Amino acid sequence: MSGFWSIFIIVLVAVQVIGALWLLTNYTKPPKSPEGATTGHMWDGDLEEGNNPLPRWWLYLFWLTAIWTLVYLVIYPGLGKFEGLTGWSQTGQYDQEVAAAEERYGDVFAAFAGMSLEDMAREPGAVRLGRNLYLNNCATCHGSDARGATAFPNLSDNEWQYGGTPDAILQTISNGRVGVMPALGAALGDEGTDAVVRYVLSLSGNSSAETDTLGTGQQKYMQFCAACHGPTGQGMQALGAPNLTNDIWLHGGSADTIRDIIINGRQNQMPAQKDLLSEDRIRVLGAYVLSLGAE
Ligand code: HEC
Ligand code: HEC
Repeated sequence: MSGFWSIFIIVLVAVQVIGALWLLTNYTKPPKSPEGATTGHMWDGDLEEGNNPLPRWWLYLFWLTAIWTLVYLVIYPGLGKFEGLTGWSQTGQYDQEVAAAEERYGDVFAAFAGMSLEDMAREPGAVRLGRNLYLNNCATCHGSDARGATAFPNLSDNEWQYGGTPDAILQTISNGRVGVMPALGAALGDEGTDAVVRYVLSLSGNSSAETDTLGTGQQKYMQFCAACHGPTGQGMQALGAPNLTNDIWLHGGSADTIRDIIINGRQNQMPAQKDLLSEDRIRVLGAYVLSLGAE
């Protein structure tokens, strides 16, 4: 917070507190008028507004809150940059709670420290723990059943965009992944794009086009796509280029979707978890993902 805003907030708080105290001292005295007097206002012909003092207990509550405000402002942050005598902060409290939780759960994870990911994937305790972590950290994107959705890969099958070995899975979770399919519409032109779409459909057995009309498509494919998706369309895990032959689609296998992806490209991201989750947790999550593919 800059010096200006700090002072601005201090002045704002001070004006409010002083204003409230001024109101309390000046406007809550018993009126001089006799008991039963009214303010003179009248509604609906016979509804009058009495002019009685506030009940004492009510008034004392106001005073108590005003005094608590002052105590609070001394103890806790509230006056601009002044941190309060206790030095309390939200982030400080969060760090403390995280440290306490680490201490409490550390042992649970330590039990798996020496195990390989494959062994953990067969250990019911680790898988159960992994499932809980999965539901809290991954299910929003990959679904509670891990079957994914359009643009979010299914983790429960044996088809891997980036690889299903323990190392590849740990890499994916720790460092995240960015899949970039370049926009090739301009390079291919309308006819070239149509030909490639037909060829891609044929790779997974989804095209009824005659083989000889696929010639141009294959030629364009070799020129523009094979470097990433492989000469036979089997994909390339190092780049995250999906296999185009198995009829499993990340973005959808209709001709329209495929055409759109080729023309406009796609960028898709798995967010890195290493700054959010400890290494122990990432290993337990990796074991859980591995256990899903093994089913
Ligand atoms: C914000 C959404 C999001 C969250 C949260 C998320 N992921 Fe992902 N994940 C993705 C996307 C999108 C991809 C595909 C990236 C691509 O297409 O390049 C992906 C890819 C993956 C892959 C690679 C799959 C393959 O076929 O190679 C794995 C494994 C994975 N995620 C595991 C996890 C785990 C475990 C968690 C929880 C710690 C998690 N993800 C949390 C969006 C997410
Ligand atoms: C630079 C490498 C690269 C090139 C060149 C490339 N792709 Fe891709 N392609 C990718 C990547 C990476 C993805 C995955 C994007 C993601 O993570 O969502 C992808 C995704 C796709 C998909 C979606 C697959 C699915 O499962 O939904 C199709 C279809 C596709 N590419 C077709 C092609 C065609 C056809 C060409 C040539 C005209 C081509 N690609 C050229 C890297 C490439």
